[in-house]
Amino acid sequence: MTLKSLAILLGVLVPLVATAQEKIVNVYSSRHYQTDEALYTGFTRATGIKVNRIEAGEDALIERIRNEGARSPGDVLITVDAGRLWRAEQLGLFQPIRSPVLDSRIPQSFREPGGQWFGFSMRARVLAYNKARVRPDELRRYEDLADAKWKGRICARSSSNIYNLSLMGALIDRLGEARAEEWARAVRANLARDPKGGDTDQLKAVAAGECDVAISNHYYYARLARSAKPDEKAIAGKLGVALPGLAGTGTHVNISGAGVLKHAPHREAAVRFLEYLASDEAQRYFADGNNEWPVVASARVANPVLSAIGEISYDPINVAVLGRNQPLAQKIFDRVGWK
Ligand SMILES: [Fe+2]
Repeated sequence: MTLKSLAILLGVLVPLVATAQEKIVNVYSSRHYQTDEALYTGFTRATGIKVNRIEAGEDALIERIRNEGARSPGDVLITVDAGRLWRAEQLGLFQPIRSPVLDSRIPQSFREPGGQWFGFSMRARVLAYNKARVRPDELRRYEDLADAKWKGRICARSSSNIYNLSLMGALIDRLGEARAEEWARAVRANLARDPKGGDTDQLKAVAAGECDVAISNHYYYARLARSAKPDEKAIAGKLGVALPGLAGTGTHVNISGAGVLKHAPHREAAVRFLEYLASDEAQRYFADGNNEWPVVASARVANPVLSAIGEISYDPINVAVLGRNQPLAQKIFDRVGWK
């Protein structure tokens, strides 16, 4: 090979190698929905940046990122519930991001104020009830559950569950610690059985007549309602869904969200990925994959079950408050004996 041809060959190769290094984003995700595939291909189509996915359970991913430390190849962490994103933040896994796109697209209440993490879809903690035994107007507020008329009629999962901790975090903020504890004590006394199982198990218990009301995230109901299995559809058929208010505000909602990891090797690509998630197109895929609502108002999903649940008016509490109140929330649950 002549020197000249070697120079030409290198001239071709070097830029290719440099580009290949830049055009990648490594996404750690605890999501596993079919529609997420469309998100990744959509992002690559729009930007030319390839997405490498590492999927695992939430806690396993957080543990992995911790162990990898400064050598972590991870650029982005996607997970569910503000309480969990907050935990990752407390472990120092994220870096703050300032993006005019994210700031303008995502409502303030769905972003960590320091830019450590951002919500991309919204889930509501609803009250599912037995339509044959309960009228929806009996469940206008979460506070209603404390009434003695519900004695032996409520099903709920354990207090260590992140969804319940986030709900209690909102109650603490809106009602104050003392009233939040009173509420927890009263609801605990109204439980039909000791807390056990996940949200879907609470819904099944209502349909089976074991209790009349269950505290559950709305998408577990949506999954049953959209199920191809007749027995699951039948369970949803017995249930109504109330969107309760809290202390004069709207329904308690939470998020699925993401942040840029502290040692992200491809920081710029990571920011572009988050910005893409806030686009109308991505919002629809991201939210609909789990029957959630988009956080960006202009992105509308055509989801029959969400439409049937109704227009949601939500409590605009900042998601970071849910994390901050998490330790106190657990203390309150422990004090009232909510297992
Ligand atoms: Fe869930």
